[in-house]
Amino acid sequence: MATEISKGDKLYEGKAKILYKGIETGTIIQYFKDDATAFNNQKKGTITGKGIINNKVTELVMNNLERIGIPTHFIERLSDREQLVREVDIVPLEVIVRNVVAGTMAKRLGIEEGTPLMRPLIEFSLKDDDLGDPLIAEEHILSLDLADDEELSEIFDMTHQINDFLRGMFAGIGINLIDFKLEYGRIFDEDGIGYRLVLADEFSPDNCRLWDMKTNEKLDKDRFRRDLGGEVEAYQEVARRLGITF
Ligand code: CDP
Repeated sequence: MATEISKGDKLYEGKAKILYKGIETGTIIQYFKDDATAFNNQKKGTITGKGIINNKVTELVMNNLERIGIPTHFIERLSDREQLVREVDIVPLEVIVRNVVAGTMAKRLGIEEGTPLMRPLIEFSLKDDDLGDPLIAEEHILSLDLADDEELSEIFDMTHQINDFLRGMFAGIGINLIDFKLEYGRIFDEDGIGYRLVLADEFSPDNCRLWDMKTNEKLDKDRFRRDLGGEVEAYQEVARRLGITF
């Protein structure tokens, strides 16, 4: 399916996605590219077919999360690389969930990758590429008014529920969900005062770590980041196990 649907003006081009205005007010079209970047844009490349897989994995995850009562920005998938979502005001936080120590946490704290955590850890980074998405504390979030107390506790609750569900979902296909990144957005009421918090952005092997349960083989973007090779096959394997067809 190479068809692309008609869309409005380009709003923003990011590292892995392009956002266009949707035809209907208050909607956005997310277009998933094959471009891959790592280390805050210092490493660039492509993973052939990644955009199609990430679009479909995100569709599956968002639909499943909606079913367990998590509100999301997702409306529907439109084509191989495009999905329609609600326009949101992004909360400028990267919400990182860790079940097992890996990546920057392993490096920063000198703990061996693969060390399990006693309980899931939720960390926050300020969403700012120029600053390299610095890690911040809950106190920063409240003092800087990036979110209020009530919102922050809603983010914690939703994030724990999402983690519980996704760990189970991936365990069911022999994959250990090591860590992942979420973003939330606000959808304002017509009065411009009240709003609700929804899960936004995407969920794909670009922003999580997925290790095969038997072999610990990496099935995510670390294959690209760390020059391990086989990234196309790894993304395809995740899609295949999730029952995604092309
Ligand atoms: O991935 P990296 O080592 O740079 O950072 P991390 O803090 O260990 O990342 C934890 C998880 O969040 C990984 O699954 C990353 O893929 C994801 N992440 C992301 O999607 N976007 C970011 N800007 C930072 C982390």
